[in-house]
Order: sequence, then structure tokens, then C-alpha cells
Amino acid sequence: MDLTSKDIATARAHPNIALIKYWGNLDNELRLPANSSLSFSLGTLETQTTVQFDEQLTSDRVVIDDVPASDSASQRVCLHLDRIRRLADIKTYAYVESNSNFPSGAGIASSASAFAALTLAACSACNLEINSRALSRLARQGSGSASRSIFGGFVIWYAGKTDAESYAESIADKYHWPIVDLITIVNTSHKTVGSSEGHLLAETSPLQIIRVEDTPRRLEICQQAIMDRDFNALASIVELDSNMMHAVMMTSKPALLYWSAATIEIMKTVSRLRHEGLDICYTIDAGPNVHCICTREHAHSAHDVLKKIPGVVDILESPPGDGAVTLDR
Ligand code: PMV
Repeated sequence: MDLTSKDIATARAHPNIALIKYWGNLDNELRLPANSSLSFSLGTLETQTTVQFDEQLTSDRVVIDDVPASDSASQRVCLHLDRIRRLADIKTYAYVESNSNFPSGAGIASSASAFAALTLAACSACNLEINSRALSRLARQGSGSASRSIFGGFVIWYAGKTDAESYAESIADKYHWPIVDLITIVNTSHKTVGSSEGHLLAETSPLQIIRVEDTPRRLEICQQAIMDRDFNALASIVELDSNMMHAVMMTSKPALLYWSAATIEIMKTVSRLRHEGLDICYTIDAGPNVHCICTREHAHSAHDVLKKIPGVVDILESPPGDGAVTLDR
């Protein structure tokens, strides 16, 4: 493939929140997950990434949120660019500039939007013609959950057993059901174990095998609840799924406990609010923040209660959003 020195593209992608979560890998290298998962895209949060291949460069240069990336972050980006260079049959290095509109200190996993935007921008910059399923497979190898961020609305990632079988697709667009994620950020100075490291520990828990075997059942209930817009059915399966993943984390070797006191307070408050008649449930990723999922009608009342819980420092709000897109420069 011929490159000019101006091969440049910008892409935007959103993070996503998993309602049925993936935890643990069948293949760590290819990031083939232990189980299928289901999420929705978080439309108000986004990462924009520009990739420019330049024949003058002697190595890749990566800038994240206006500062040069750490060695480990750069290395992960370079490895991902290598995958794309192999596909495009080029050897040219690139400038990568990535900015997110949500604070990195907020503890929201940004790797989904980051690797979805990087994959699309890099493929466009080297004029690689590739469909969304192939983009999803490629993004998956950078960060598992990035496979889901290629698509908008409600998205399933089929675990598969091979690279070709492990991809995401949208099951309903962003307008299908106006639910809202109130991302309730708690004050924590603790450093957590990142998900890449966490996935490696999943199989040391005796509960992982049970969780994985039961996933098709939970996935089907969740998908049906979304199709029927049945909030009660959604709430019980989403909380069960999150609790099962955290049970695996807490019983792995070494054990991972991501919750803080405020996390538990929020979980209890969400249960109370549901008993009082609000459509709300919680789900928690690999960190102490709580994603409180509610209907649009109940978002305002829920927000008012959640913000008063001691330890809550911020609440970000997002309805379902779009998939990854390239932007005109
Ligand atoms: O894609 P990763 O490696 O950042 O892992 C994401 C793991 C969870 O957020 C805990 C669950 C999920 O399915 O998003």
C-alpha cells in the first residue's frame, strides 16, 4: 500500500457500560473473552483520536489528554498500531493524539472508547477498507470492551472461540429505550488493579466456571428485558450479573475487592429507591464507582438522592449513544 506523508484521520468513540459483563479470557493474546457480554454506549462521554502516519518518524509518538503517554500506555498503543500496519502492509510510524471529555481520574474505564477510536482512526488513516465486524474484532485485541464501542445503542459481543467468531453487533439503536446511566463517582485515592491484570486472575476463582456456564441464561433474560423495555426484569438480572462478577473477583487469588464504603452505601440506596418505586438498578465495573441505571422519568429524583450520599464527588449522566465514527478535519 502506498502512503503519502499526509495520511491522517480522526475518529470519535464512546465508552460503554456492560449490563452483562465479561470477566476473564479464553485467550489473553487475542483477548477472546470467557463469556459473551451486553452493553450500551455512553453517548455523552467520548474519546477523539487523531492518527497521522508519517514517513519521517522513526518511532510512534503518543499523546493522551495533552501529555506524552506513559511507557506502558505507549507500548499498548504501538502494539495495536502494529496489528493495523500488518493488515495494511505498511511499516510507517504514526503520531497519535487522543483526548477524552471525561476525567481520567474519575476511574471510568476509558480503554473501550480509546481503542475503538484508535482502531477506526488508524484504519482510516492508512486507507484500510474494513467493515464494522472486522473493526470490532480488531478493536477487541486492543481492549476487550472496545469491540462493543464500535457500535451504537445496545450491543452484544459474542465471545466466540476464534478470532473470527469474537465480535460485537448492535441489537437495538440508541432510541430504542431512553434509559440513563448515572455514573456515581466516589472519592477514592486507592489504586486499583486494572482490568487487563484482573482478567488473568478470573480463573483462579472457584466461582468463575459457574458464572461463565450461567452466562447464556443471563444474557437471554437481559436481551429480552431490553427488547420488551421491561425495567424490573432488567434490574434483577443486571444486579445479579454485577454481583456474580464481583463474587469472582473477591474469591480470586489474590482476591480483588473494588468496593469502598461509599460503593456499598450507593448499592443500598439504589435498592431502597427501587423498593420505593423508582426504576433504578446498579452495576459496577473494575473500580469503586457505581453505574446507576434508571429510566429517564426517574433520573432526576435518583440524581437528587445519590448526590447527597457521603463520599459521592460527582455524577456523570449518559443515555445510550452512537458507535464509532470518523470526523471530517
Ligand atoms: O475491556 P477491559 O479489558 O477493560 O475489561 C472490561 C471489564 C469490565 O468492565 C469489568 C466488564 C465489561 O464487560 O465491560
